[in-house]
Amino acid sequence: MSESPKLSASSGLASASIAEAPAPTSPHPSSRSSIPHSSVSLRVNGTRYALTLDTRTSLLDALREHLHLTGTKKGCDHGHCGACTVLVNGTRINACLSLAAMHDADEILTIEGLGTPDDLHPMQAAFLRHDAFQCGYCTPGQICSAVAILDEIERGVPSHATGDLTARMEASHSELRERMSGNICRCGAYSNIQAAIAEIVGGAA
Ligand code: FES
Ligand code: FES
Repeated sequence: MSESPKLSASSGLASASIAEAPAPTSPHPSSRSSIPHSSVSLRVNGTRYALTLDTRTSLLDALREHLHLTGTKKGCDHGHCGACTVLVNGTRINACLSLAAMHDADEILTIEGLGTPDDLHPMQAAFLRHDAFQCGYCTPGQICSAVAILDEIERGVPSHATGDLTARMEASHSELRERMSGNICRCGAYSNIQAAIAEIVGGAA
C-alpha cells in the first residue's frame, strides 16, 4: 500500500522542523549559579535553621530534603491530600503549597515536634488507642490537622459546617468531619480517626 500524499507531506514538514531545530546545548557551567537563591531562617520544632534555598523550594521540600524531617509526608504535592500538613505560627497549612522563602522567622511545628515515642502528644496517644491508621502514611498530617482543630474550636473559628456563628462552638461529628475533610486516608481509617479526635476534643463520641 502506497503512502498517502497527506501523510507524506506531513512527514516532510516534520523532517524539516527537526532539521531546523537548534541542537540541544549543554547547560553553561555558570547557569546553576544563576538560579535565584534566598536566605531563610526557619524555626522548626523550637530549633532555628539558617538555610540558603532555591527560591522555588516548597516548605515541604525544605523540611524533608534539607532538614531531613521526613515525618511530614509528600502525598500529592498539589494540595489535595493533606499528608504534608504542618502548623505555622499555630495555623495548619499544606506545606507543599507554600514556598519556604515565605516563612522566614516563622514558628513551624511538625509531627517530630509534637511528641516523642516516650512522651507522646495526647492526640498521638489517642490515635494509637483507637487504631486510627493502617499504613500510617497519612497519619502525621492527620494528627497535625487534628491538633490544630483543638485550637480552632477553642478560638471559635467557624468552618463550612458551622450553623450559628454566634453560638458557642461545638465539636460535633459534622464539625470534625468538615475540618478533617482535607486530610485523605487511602486506607479508609476514617471512623477510627474520628473516634480518636472526638476523644481528645471531648465532644462527639
Ligand atoms: S502533599 Fe501536600 S496536600 Fe498532598
Ligand atoms: S493509614 Fe494509610 S493512608 Fe491513612
